[in-house]
Amino acid sequence: MALRPIIVLPDKRLRLVSEPVTRVDASVRKLIEEMFEAMYDAPGIGLAAIQLGEPKRVVTIDLARKDDPPAPQVFINPEIVWFSEEKRTYEEGCLSIPEYYEEVERPAEVKVKYLDREGNPQEVHAEGILATCLQHEIDHLNGILFIDHLSKLKRDRVIKKFAKAARRAEG
Ligand code: NI
Repeated sequence: MALRPIIVLPDKRLRLVSEPVTRVDASVRKLIEEMFEAMYDAPGIGLAAIQLGEPKRVVTIDLARKDDPPAPQVFINPEIVWFSEEKRTYEEGCLSIPEYYEEVERPAEVKVKYLDREGNPQEVHAEGILATCLQHEIDHLNGILFIDHLSKLKRDRVIKKFAKAARRAEG
C-alpha cells in the first residue's frame, strides 16, 4: 500500500467541511488503514481524513508513548455532546502545519459520541491530552485549524510563512 501524503497549509482542502460517513464499509476501513500508516510515518498522534485530502468525518488517534505498544483509536462521525467549563492549555502542533507549535486553550473535558470501526455507536468521556486531541481533530472535520484559536497576528504570520514556502517550492 502506497504511503499517502499529508496535505499542508495553504492547501485549500484543509478548509472543507467533511461529510459524515453513511456506511462503515471496506472503503472506509481502507481509508482508516491509510490514515494510520501516514500518521505513524509522520509521526503524529492524531489525523483527520481531510489531511489525506478525503473530506470524510474520520479521525485516527494514538496516544501511546514511544516505547509502549501502539494503541490505535478510530472515531467515525465524532460529535462533541458535552464540554466542561474548566479549560486547559496545551502546546499543539499539526501535521498539516509542520514544525509550528503554539499553546491553545480548550475545554479540559469533553464527551464525544462516535462510531467505532465496526460501525457501532460509542461514547467517550475524554480528559487530558485525549480531550485536546479529539477537539483538534474534530475541528479539522469542520475546516478549522488550531491556528484559528490564536491571535490574528500569530495566525496571519504563520499563514504568510507557509504561503511563501509554497511559492518557493513552485519555483
Ligand atoms: Ni491537525
